[in-house]
Amino acid sequence: MSSVGDAIDTNCMTLTRFMLTEQRKRDDATGELTTLLNAICTSVKAVGSAVRRAGIAKLYGIAGNTNVQGEDQKKLDVLANDLFINMLRSSYTTCLLISEENDTVVEIEPEKAGKYVVAFDPLDGSSNIDCLVSIGSIFAIYRKEEINGKIGVKSGRSIVAAGYSLYGSATAIVLSIDGSVNEFTYDPTIGEFILTDPNMRVPQKGKIYSINEGYESQWDDVVKEYVRSKKYPKSGKPYSARYVGSMVADVHRTIKYGGVFLYPATSDAKSGKLRLLYEGNPMAHIIEAAGGVASNGKIPILDIEPKQIHERTPVFLGSKDDVNEILDAYKKK
Ligand code: AHG
Ligand code: MN
Ligand code: MN
Repeated sequence: MSSVGDAIDTNCMTLTRFMLTEQRKRDDATGELTTLLNAICTSVKAVGSAVRRAGIAKLYGIAGNTNVQGEDQKKLDVLANDLFINMLRSSYTTCLLISEENDTVVEIEPEKAGKYVVAFDPLDGSSNIDCLVSIGSIFAIYRKEEINGKIGVKSGRSIVAAGYSLYGSATAIVLSIDGSVNEFTYDPTIGEFILTDPNMRVPQKGKIYSINEGYESQWDDVVKEYVRSKKYPKSGKPYSARYVGSMVADVHRTIKYGGVFLYPATSDAKSGKLRLLYEGNPMAHIIEAAGGVASNGKIPILDIEPKQIHERTPVFLGSKDDVNEILDAYKKK
């Protein structure tokens, strides 16, 4: 016999409740990070809602602007960016915002400033918007540091918390904080993110490789040979190929099922395509905390010292054994 009440968990762990519990564990916690994450949570709910009714609300199509990387900005990109900036600015917890969609940093006026630097990709996978394929948002919360008298980011090791939201068959937020990674899925009936996958771990080894194979002719020999060895193994079964083309979706699958996600340098793009501060670093923070490896081919992504806010990095991330295999091949070169 089931009753209406059985379907509802009366003691569910929401994202806010999780953050408050984490905050209580630290004596020095002021609640600023919890407030900041609440602002991100609100942005994600609003972007998620816009994504779900994008067709009806006519949010598809090109907005007519071009961002700093020379790519067309879609309407949803603009909306997501405005939401993130407005929610973060009004949370009184940030001093500097770095967005994929803004050429320069957004400095928060002193009367509203807090202690964190936030870098974000408000809408990741924009080429998938119009065909209804999964997209996401990515963020990294950095400790404020002074570099040559100015507020900046020393490296990904200054990240305090990082995460992404995925607008897929469901909407979820994956958050890495204090060395653990947790997934919260949105329950539209109560308007809350509920803990659905606590303490996520990337499998030690997977059976999937994920790379845009259209660029094979532009890869270096190590990447060519690695991918070939996955398709034509000397023994055992070949790996499966999966590539969504939205980093959030490809990384989420890699965490859940294992394997590798690669966006290497190509002869046209010497540092690859993905951006360090708001794509490479947050994903690397999550992957490392979940027991995986994230490298640029030479060093851990989190150890790279950025020179520019929009700089790019090659990305090799995922299951420890799989990523180490290609890193070993680079070392032997
Ligand atoms: P964005 O939509 O924020 O510009 O990011 C797109 C990125 C990333 O999501 C994905 O992994 C990659 O572009 C795909 O690039 P290719 O089309 O070159 O494979
Ligand atoms: Mn992106
Ligand atoms: Mn984007």
